[in-house]
Amino acid sequence: MVEDRLIQKALEAQKNAYVPYSVFPVGAALLTADGEIFSGCNVENASYGLTICAERSACVKAISEGKKDFIAIAIVGDQDNPTPPCGACRQFLYEFKPDLKIHLIGREEIITFDLRELLPEAFGPENL
Ligand code: THU
Repeated sequence: MVEDRLIQKALEAQKNAYVPYSVFPVGAALLTADGEIFSGCNVENASYGLTICAERSACVKAISEGKKDFIAIAIVGDQDNPTPPCGACRQFLYEFKPDLKIHLIGREEIITFDLRELLPEAFGPENL
């Protein structure tokens, strides 16, 4: 199942999270329409505000490889409860796929949202 592959890739990327300050590793895996998966982890910095979330790191990897036809993303945090994407990541992903499927992977449950549900009345390219 494609969701299983996505979760696996997100878990692998989570192991690479650079999180000396928050000690809160996150992994994300983004699926493209042609079945490719781009993963990412959060990367923190001594200048805390420069931190890049796992979701944006996966997205930037894909875009820079010429892929932007996204279908779904899986996000793995380090908590029992699923970790939802931050507001900045919601906005960042909305740019490319307003109805992106977002799978939040918790230890006990997986919750799936449509990005439009998580970012209603979003500002996007169509507003410019
Ligand atoms: N983080 C993510 O990577 N994705 C999110 O959507 C939530 C927050 C990271 C940022 C920071 O490195 C750590 O989690 C704690 O906020």
